[in-house]
Amino acid sequence: MKLRDKVAIVTGGSRGIGRAACVGLAQAGARVVVNYCSRPDKAQEVVELISERGGEAIGYQADVSKSGEVNEMVTATVDHFGGIDILVNNAGIDPRQTWHEMTEENWDHVLGVNLKGQFLCAKAVYPHMRARGKGKIINVTSVAYFLGFRDLLHYSASKGGIIGLTRALARELGSSNINVNAVAPGAIQTESELEEYPDQEAMARTMAERQCLPQRIRPEDLVGIFVFLASDDSDPITGQTIVVDGGWALH
Ligand SMILES: NC(=O)c1ccc[n+]([C@@H]2O[C@H](COP(=O)([O-])OP(=O)(O)OC[C@H]3O[C@@H](n4cnc5c(N)ncnc54)[C@H](OP(=O)(O)O)[C@@H]3O)[C@@H](O)[C@H]2O)c1
Repeated sequence: MKLRDKVAIVTGGSRGIGRAACVGLAQAGARVVVNYCSRPDKAQEVVELISERGGEAIGYQADVSKSGEVNEMVTATVDHFGGIDILVNNAGIDPRQTWHEMTEENWDHVLGVNLKGQFLCAKAVYPHMRARGKGKIINVTSVAYFLGFRDLLHYSASKGGIIGLTRALARELGSSNINVNAVAPGAIQTESELEEYPDQEAMARTMAERQCLPQRIRPEDLVGIFVFLASDDSDPITGQTIVVDGGWALH
């Protein structure tokens, strides 16, 4: 198992891509903190699923945009599991809004969760990774940065910010043997997407036209890249953004 005895925090680990990351990292041997913000029931489902499969996980509520809550989560992780090796900065929100109706509060909220949240989590885990002599930080961005989606100005900007953060942080942390990389998913068939676009046949046709590869991408399809970036296999790789989108943005 590539991640045996490693400890991972996955922010927004209770649903969608984060849920798949938690289950996938646990399957690879990691002990996992399933972070969530508002739905303890969904986090508990993930903890139970991991436990049924013989893994170890705990749920932890923390709003990633609030430094006090982030610091408490990191302290609780170290108290429970003895350290931190992997951070998957996955929590994100994407409320659709016409750009000129977007308020300052809307902007601050999205940037606060999506971008500041990743900075706060990285800052909080850093001393613990340095103490271990090694660490892996994986930031989840989006093709929205490369493609620039309408009605998602704040979201697209936050996702571009994450790529800048990833590159600058990779330079800051390389000497501490901490790798910082980003994953940019395309259109992923999460529960949220199934609710928002119930006509999945139409969605499949649309995505087949947009992507080089006609298949839909499920959250589980991202597990391989998360495990790779969390494992020793990615030791020489840092500051990179890997796009997992079936060949849509072609970055
Ligand atoms: N789905 C896609 O097609 C797609 C494409 C490109 C990029 N992405 C990115 O991938 C990541 C995951 O997306 P998703 O679609 O899988 O998400 P999702 O299904 O909407 O789930 C969002 C997760 O984030 C948590 N969360 C929300 N606000 C939070 C906060 N302030 N603090 C801590 N946790 C918070 C939620 O917890 P609660 O439910 O408890 O609030 C939930 O676990 C995001 O960064 C997103 O931008 C997704």
